[in-house]
Amino acid sequence: QQDLKSRLLELNKMAARYFYYQLRSENGRQGLEYLKSRQLSDETIKSFGLGFANKYSNDLYNYMKKQGIGDELLRESGLMNVDEAKGMYDKFWNRVIFPIMDVNSRVIGFGGRVMGDGKPKYLNSPETPIFDKSRNLYGLNVARTSRKKNILVCEGYMDVISLHQAGFRNAVASLGTALTTQHAGLLKRYTDEVVLTYDSDDAGTRAAMRAIPIVKAAGLSAKVLHMQPYKDPDEFIKALGAEKFQERIDKAENSFMFEISMLEREYDMKDPEGKTAFYNGVAAKLVEFEVELERENYIEAVAERYHIAFDSLRKLVNRAAMKG
Ligand code: GTP
Ligand code: MN
Ligand code: MN
Ligand code: MN
Ligand code: MN
Repeated sequence: QQDLKSRLLELNKMAARYFYYQLRSENGRQGLEYLKSRQLSDETIKSFGLGFANKYSNDLYNYMKKQGIGDELLRESGLMNVDEAKGMYDKFWNRVIFPIMDVNSRVIGFGGRVMGDGKPKYLNSPETPIFDKSRNLYGLNVARTSRKKNILVCEGYMDVISLHQAGFRNAVASLGTALTTQHAGLLKRYTDEVVLTYDSDDAGTRAAMRAIPIVKAAGLSAKVLHMQPYKDPDEFIKALGAEKFQERIDKAENSFMFEISMLEREYDMKDPEGKTAFYNGVAAKLVEFEVELERENYIEAVAERYHIAFDSLRKLVNRAAMKG
């Protein structure tokens, strides 16, 4: 098994090099143009080892055969589709390629993006003996050395790359999967604070809501960055630049206050009954702060935001505590 893993790592390294050189070949021109159109510099393209899988669909397979790689290993690598009728053929073709590295900068898998509007937009390696999506974060090999006070957790490859290019080398992404307990444990090794930097659409908001308890359970503090009116960090940086993004990081919202704003959406705040129900909901959440001073600080913050009396809210919290 150990031997299989090291052979797969070796194979991925070969494939990453192959894609990398394809991007610089005549065939790869379209890929390079696509990456340039997304405003990535040569240096960025190089440092992330970006590559290209060209449109001749068995190129990688034929290349690997020439290198004497056996079908068995190729099948395990996730780089091939296996079809009873067609046999084995390249999984990635006519896409720009993002090698996915673990914290030790070993290539464990690949992502590929269409150069335009085709579907699926991204294709990722399947799980293999060396690629476990729930235990790896894209960009963490660099982010771990960034010496920033927090780590920005965003959604996608392009967000991480854009942010790094703009100087935010503390950005990572979970790869098309929700943040897991294992991800949070991994982050805890390198930081004490996570800033959730998900897309501003509904999917991103829901992802943030799900991530908060997971991040907190790992003993990390969580903040939520507001990206509006832009959709994701990549688009924000392109529109407003790094300085404005830093301002958003500095203004990132405390995750409890973010949860409260989301809770508010569920009630009719123009109706006294709806409003009361909302405050009872808030009180039930405030009870969860066990340290008195911390609880009081949050009561104060909520009272201030909703322009209600601190004492009224504290009484409500005390009642909720008694009931609970
Ligand atoms: P760009 O359009 O290139 O800027 O990508 P994005 O990162 O903004 O894409 P999006 O917000 O739609 O998705 C976030 C992440 O989810 C991507 O970076 C991928 O890792 C993953 N993802 C998006 N679309 C697909 C898909 O069609 N299939 C799979 N498997 N993953 C996807
Ligand atoms: Mn999407
Ligand atoms: Mn998204
Ligand atoms: Mn996005
Ligand atoms: Mn995007």
